[in-house]
Amino acid sequence: MTEKTKSSQIGSSTPDNTTAIKEYLNTKRGLVEKALQQFIPEQENKLESHIESMTYSLSAGGKRVRPILCIAVAEALGQDMTDLMPIPCALECIHTYSLIHDDLPAMDNDDLRRGKPTNHMVYGEAAAILAGDSLLTFAFELLSYPSLVGAIAPENQIRLINTVAKAAGPLGMVGGQALDIASENKDIPFETLRFIHSHKTGALITASVQCGALLGNASQNQFKALSEYGRDIGLAFQIVDDLLNVEGTTEELGKAVGSDADRNKATYPGFFGVSETREKAKSAVEQAIKALEEFDQKADPLRHLAAYIYERTN
Ligand code: IPE
Ligand code: IPE
Ligand code: MG
Ligand code: MG
Repeated sequence: MTEKTKSSQIGSSTPDNTTAIKEYLNTKRGLVEKALQQFIPEQENKLESHIESMTYSLSAGGKRVRPILCIAVAEALGQDMTDLMPIPCALECIHTYSLIHDDLPAMDNDDLRRGKPTNHMVYGEAAAILAGDSLLTFAFELLSYPSLVGAIAPENQIRLINTVAKAAGPLGMVGGQALDIASENKDIPFETLRFIHSHKTGALITASVQCGALLGNASQNQFKALSEYGRDIGLAFQIVDDLLNVEGTTEELGKAVGSDADRNKATYPGFFGVSETREKAKSAVEQAIKALEEFDQKADPLRHLAAYIYERTN
């Protein structure tokens, strides 16, 4: 990769850039939605209600950031994703399961998600827990989908499944969630908050980037640089989530605002105030874009995605 592209200007995107990334996101979101519909288990006699509860949350909208990141990274490395869509769809299934469980009364106890009543509000708690269980398990069916045989080098597919499992599991997302819940109503040091954010949210985002890198047969150096990019945007993503919980609107977010303070959660704005938090998100995103220095213009969507993560309002 020879031709280098300069960093996006964070926080001062031009109207052209903003339109371009919006169009890019819309197109890729469309592809992900279409693929998800194709892979979702068929309605099965006797299991209609269970499948419906899974599909309810999966098709409730959502930005599809994780699958889009996976696609954008693979494409930055010149990989055609047409036959590989089970992988980004699996990432979205894991993310959606985590949201269903995150909203449960025993966890964040939220009534609204993606602009609709949360899964347990519609189907009840037991059904919502099971919808989450099925989405998580189904993700691994997708990661090992029969159509992928021959489309991914077996060694890369094993690495990919291992990467996703680790990122979603006890030392990744679920570990972060466990610490988040255990830290409610407690004075925790900043380093614990950073750990929570980089695990509950950062781990799956980093893994999504790494999946794209594995699908695109990244070299060792490219994998390392992309992992740094993933780590930095993953942290920025949750810092901005904290900010939007303070500054955003329910209409735009499709979920409650002010809930972190209500549940006495430690957050970045709680530690640093709103404007210093914004600076921290900005510098994480700038750092992420810097990690892409050696990549050519095929990585521009990744640069714009990083800027979008900082500037997003939902
Ligand atoms: C929300 O994730 C929960 C976090 C991990 C911060 P998103 O902001 O990606 O939610 P959707 O998928 O767009 O609904
Ligand atoms: C959600 O974190 C993280 C996961 C679901 C893994 P939050 O609880 O902060 O996210 P929102 O604000 O409910 O979307
Ligand atoms: Mg939570
Ligand atoms: Mg929550």
